[in-house]
Amino acid sequence: MLDGKKVLFSGMQATGNLTLGNYLGALKNWTTLTDEYQCFYSVVDLHSITVRQDPAELRKRARNLLTLYIAAGLDPEKNCLYYQSHVTGHAELAWILNCFTYMGELNRMTQFKDKAAKHADNINAGLFTYPVLMAADILLFQSDVVPVGKDQLQHLEITRDIATRFNGIYGDVFTIPEPYIGKVGAKIMSLQDPVKKMSKSDENPNASIYLMDDPDTIIRKFKRAVTDSEACIRYSDDQPGIKNLIDIFSACSGMTAEQIVADYEGKGYGDFKLAVGESVVNVLKPIQDRYAELQKDKAYLDSIIKTNAEKAQYYSNKTLRKVQKKVGFPERVR
Ligand code: TRP
Repeated sequence: MLDGKKVLFSGMQATGNLTLGNYLGALKNWTTLTDEYQCFYSVVDLHSITVRQDPAELRKRARNLLTLYIAAGLDPEKNCLYYQSHVTGHAELAWILNCFTYMGELNRMTQFKDKAAKHADNINAGLFTYPVLMAADILLFQSDVVPVGKDQLQHLEITRDIATRFNGIYGDVFTIPEPYIGKVGAKIMSLQDPVKKMSKSDENPNASIYLMDDPDTIIRKFKRAVTDSEACIRYSDDQPGIKNLIDIFSACSGMTAEQIVADYEGKGYGDFKLAVGESVVNVLKPIQDRYAELQKDKAYLDSIIKTNAEKAQYYSNKTLRKVQKKVGFPERVR
């Protein structure tokens, strides 16, 4: 609890361009949680270097992502939006938690296995202990809830295990976090292979709508979206392409899937795809405009970055100092 509210933590990596899937599945929901929770949203750049990055590119993307958080509607006065690397406690707590995490536990992490297979030339220790850093992120703020996608649930589970183990030894130090179960975001699939999730790392640019795609590109991508040969608009698992378009349309227009199906009954795919594309443009255009405005205001962004990092540093220090004391580090001489 912080100022009478439950604490919520989440983060995103600034690698790859965010897609409509990231927005509808995560970011959009984050903006609805501001009043109910004390929210911390980090740009997790420490995590990003577990895979080799171009430094200038990483720096640029991190700033773009933070800008996008604000452009998408996260008020930086009410949500703590900051770079993980600006708050020293993440790495410090991660080190301590490393000493309370077993190799065997980390060996079971499916994301590690996947990433190790994908980056066979750089299976570094950071990639292996990635979940411990994530545990540190969450536990550092005594977070009550963590909104994460399915792919991160295993990491949240190990976070709970580490926290429970630590509390078992030293008393109640950490709040045990729960996955955020709220209105689940829409799960958006690839436009080219609708049984696969829309991903920022897809090699085919037509498979994903990027948040910064211009209106023409968006419409073109929807026109090319893979559907199927039934040529009718139904909401069914047998037509994953159409189902995905209906989900997107529904999320962007506020209409229910039933309404959409009723409206487009008997109409061709062409009209339907255009309408879906237009609904997406209507949602993304204001975000893009706000983003462009923010980018011009360097001083404002810098001040947000500074004050939010200070806030995060302040809150995280409380937990860190407590943990350091518990494990037996000497007190600081003032
Ligand atoms: N690992 C998460 C991802 O790739 C990002 C992340 C880092 C995160 N630390 C976190 C998410 C803490 C939630 C809470 O999606």
